[in-house]
Amino acid sequence: MSSAEEILNEIETIQKEALRAIEGAGSKEELEKLRVSYLGRKARLTFILRSLKDLSPEDRRLVGSRANEVKAKLEELLRSKEEELSKKHAREVIDFSLPGKKFPRGREHPLQKLIEEISYFFVGLGYEVVSGPEAELDYYNFTALNIPPYHPARSMHDTFYLTPETLFELDLSEAELREATRNIALLRTHTSPVQIRTMLRKKPPVFIIAPGKCYRKDIPDATHSPVFHQIEGLAVAEGITFADLKGTLESFLKYLFGDETKVQFRASYFPFTEPSAEVDVSCIICGGRGCRVCKDSGWLEVLGAGMVHPAVLEEVGYDSEKYTGFAFGMGVERLAMLKYRIPDIRLFLENNIQFLEQF
Ligand code: DAH
Repeated sequence: MSSAEEILNEIETIQKEALRAIEGAGSKEELEKLRVSYLGRKARLTFILRSLKDLSPEDRRLVGSRANEVKAKLEELLRSKEEELSKKHAREVIDFSLPGKKFPRGREHPLQKLIEEISYFFVGLGYEVVSGPEAELDYYNFTALNIPPYHPARSMHDTFYLTPETLFELDLSEAELREATRNIALLRTHTSPVQIRTMLRKKPPVFIIAPGKCYRKDIPDATHSPVFHQIEGLAVAEGITFADLKGTLESFLKYLFGDETKVQFRASYFPFTEPSAEVDVSCIICGGRGCRVCKDSGWLEVLGAGMVHPAVLEEVGYDSEKYTGFAFGMGVERLAMLKYRIPDIRLFLENNIQFLEQF
C-alpha cells in the first residue's frame, strides 16, 4: 500500500503526462484512446479513486479531492480539444475562403444561333418551323420539284447517292423513270424537298420554314463544304403574289443585316419556281461602294426565290388555279460568314474553342 504522499505524486505525474498527450492529439480517434487510457475503467486514476475507501479519512480527503480535481481538469481538456478538432475538420472539408471552381460555359454554335435568329423572324410572321429527313428519296429531292431524271439541273447538285444510280440506265418510259425515283435514296442536296413533304401532308394555307443540313460532293475550300445548312421557306395560299415575296424577303433581310440594307431582285432560274429570282443585299462590308468581298459590285447574293411552279403545286395535289405561293432558300453558312465576317467555311466544323467562344 502506497502512502498518501506517493499517491499524490503519482496523480501529479499522471496529470502532467495526460495534459501533454491530450494537447498533442491530432485526431478524434487519438483523443478517444487517450480518454480510455487516462479516465477509462482500467485507468490508474480510476483505480486511485476506487481505492479511496482503503485510506484513512484524512488521506482520503486529501487524495480524493486532488484526484477529482485532476479528473475534472482532464475531462474539460478532452472536451475542448474535441471541439477544436471538430472545427479543424470542418475547415478542412469546406474551406469557404477558397475561390469557387469555374466550369467553362457552353454556348450555341454560331450556325444554330443564326438559325434561331432567322426562325424568330418568320415565326413572328406566323410561319411554322418544320424539318425533313437528311437521307431523302430522289423523288422528293428532284422529281417532285420539277427536276425529273436527265434534267440538266441535276448535274449542278453533285449528289451523294445512297442507292445505285443504275436504275436510271434501264430502258424506261418517262413515267416509269419518274416512278423509279421513288426508290432511289440520296443525301438531300437542298432543303427544298421539305416543301414537297409539307404540302403532301397539309392543305393550304401553308407557311413554313425548314432549316437543316444538306450534302453535296464538293471539295472543301474556303467557301465549299460537303455538308452545309440551308433554310427553306414556303408560303402557299389563295392570292399570294410576287409582291408578297418581295415584301417578306426585303423586311427579312433588313431584320438580318440592318435597316440601311438595300435589297435587289435579279431574274434567275430554278426548275421549281416561275418566275425565279436571286436576291442580293448591298454589300455589308463596304455599304455598296465596292470592295474585295463584293468583288467591286457593291452587292452580295444571299437568297434564291420565286413563285412556286404550277407543276410543283399539281404534283402535291394542290389546285394551281386556286392557289399560288412563293418559296425561297438560303445558305446559312454564307449568311453567317457575311454577318459575322468569317473568312473560311471550314471554321464552322473545326470545333475550335477560341473561334466558337466569340459568338
Ligand atoms: N434549293 C435551291 C438551292 O439549293 C435554293 C432555292 C432557290 C430554294 C429558290 C427555293 C427557291 O425554295 O425558291 O440552290
